[in-house]
Amino acid sequence: MNSTPDSVSVTTSYGTLPPASPPATRKPVSLPRLQEMHARGEKIAMLTAYDATFAAVADAAGVDCILVGDSLGMVCQGLNSTVGVTLEAMRYHVESVVRGVRRIQGTTWVIGDLPYGSYHESREQAMRSSAVLMQAGAHMVKLEGGGWTSETVRFLVERGIPVCGHLGLTPQTVHALGGYRVQGRTGESAATLRRHALELQEAGATLLVLEMVPAALSAELTQALPRCATIGIGAGSGTAGQVLVMHDMLGVNLGKMARFVHDFMADAGSVRGAIEAYVRAVKDGRFPIDDQHAW
Ligand code: KIV
Repeated sequence: MNSTPDSVSVTTSYGTLPPASPPATRKPVSLPRLQEMHARGEKIAMLTAYDATFAAVADAAGVDCILVGDSLGMVCQGLNSTVGVTLEAMRYHVESVVRGVRRIQGTTWVIGDLPYGSYHESREQAMRSSAVLMQAGAHMVKLEGGGWTSETVRFLVERGIPVCGHLGLTPQTVHALGGYRVQGRTGESAATLRRHALELQEAGATLLVLEMVPAALSAELTQALPRCATIGIGAGSGTAGQVLVMHDMLGVNLGKMARFVHDFMADAGSVRGAIEAYVRAVKDGRFPIDDQHAW
């Protein structure tokens, strides 16, 4: 590898990585910074990435957070669901993403997804699995579900691990949910979602992904959670931030595009341009549009 002296851009055997964001203008994203953004109403732009190069491009394009999601099972490994993703696979991809971000002296907050079966047995198992992802370079871990998970979240947070929750459509339990469908539509399921969200905030979760939750309910939850920033995917425009799977927003998808996805590549000349457009649209509140991308 041959890098320029001031590390403005980096030439590797597989191409030139984008210029690093000037440290003077972009400070590293930290937990207090995410909390400040939330408090002053600046939308948080999150995107998934699974490898070094795309992570570096996403960082240079200005995303606040990269989620190394277990969606990599479907996107990278060709699985039918995320259920088959292992902790070892997550460790490998977190390490790759973190290397990409570090190589360009990036600023992005990196979240590692705890895969199915890696945190369900006990709080101790969750701690061991989280340590694997944190030691691979993640700044935060994400886990799915409500109710029983709040005890686990508290255990991790007390031990210095920032945690992102995930409610609504939780893909690791897709079989129990009966498919990829909108959650929280009935009075009873909306009440359960509200209770689980408040419990996660109380346990110390500082981010909360809301997936395929009706826009009105997500907006209400967002207002009810001053200490936990909601990040929507198919949850409308009223959340504190947004996340998309990178391949989806680049229009690279083997199946049918979900209603909540917008193809930002269609009007962009490059991957970096598409991600910059996504970040701008999230920050300006132009994406998502409730009657197009939500329920
Ligand atoms: O695994 C993932 O990429 C996710 C996002 C879709 C939120 O959980």
